Amino acid sequence: MPPRPRPRARKRPARARSLDSLRRALASLRARGERVAFVPTMGALHEGHLSLVRLARRSAPRVVVSIFVNPLQFAPGEDFRRYPRPLARDRALLAAEGVDLIWEPRVEDVYPKGDRTRVYVEGLSDVLEGSSRPGHYTGVCTVVARLLNAVQPDLLWLGQKDAQQALILERMCADLLLPVEVRRGPTLREEDGLAMSSRNSYLSHAERQQAVALSQGLAAAWILLREGERSAQRLAAAIRREWDGYPLVREDYIAIVDPASLEPLQRVRGHALVAVAAHVGPARLIDNFPWRAR
Ligand code: PAF
Repeated sequence: MPPRPRPRARKRPARARSLDSLRRALASLRARGERVAFVPTMGALHEGHLSLVRLARRSAPRVVVSIFVNPLQFAPGEDFRRYPRPLARDRALLAAEGVDLIWEPRVEDVYPKGDRTRVYVEGLSDVLEGSSRPGHYTGVCTVVARLLNAVQPDLLWLGQKDAQQALILERMCADLLLPVEVRRGPTLREEDGLAMSSRNSYLSHAERQQAVALSQGLAAAWILLREGERSAQRLAAAIRREWDGYPLVREDYIAIVDPASLEPLQRVRGHALVAVAAHVGPARLIDNFPWRAR
């Protein structure tokens, strides 16, 4: 069920569209020198986004959220056009969370006429999601670098659900010497374990029931790891076995990788990232868990 705005008496957030109006709104937000936390989104907000907004609120007195469906991170043929855009509902949800400022730029505010600059993080961008979605992370890095330059927040909040995205953006901020602290919020799940995602709304009833395979597969791998299994091949096989019971789920990848380099592991010796992607009907879903050696 999509979240409903909570009926809480809060000051309505300021809203900005153009860069000028964003800068004016930020100047008044910062008038007392308070720290600003930023949550970039593509809208179609769910509890996962709202949990990031709550973490952001606890981390800084001022919270800015952007809503921008970034065309650059969608390949031709992907779901850019049909990506859900329930703007009025998103605004109400953010108002109920006490967000100070919502930035809803137009494409030309983020990509000015004549734009030619792209941000590419070598080594991390072309594996896993990047191998299935070439150019995706260049689109993500390019937009997030611009959003950060415009908002100039003290803190940036990202979700662990796209662990690769979080890693790449952490690297980008460090490499570009951006004066922002990057923090990750945990993946939020539906009651049956399905990771929350705006793309879950594409699923039919039958597909929604089978989409639970992703988290079930990860749970099987997690149990094996806890029992001492260290072979990446056997962990992947356990996930595949779990998926065999879900004919509507089509594997894209099952990966057991080093969480810092994303290089595949043969054996899990210390930390690992277990990441999966699968097509379920019209949706391509991802999920993961970080394994931390004790
Ligand atoms: O995770 C997302 O929603 C997007 O990739 C982001 C970070 C808002 C950039 O468009």
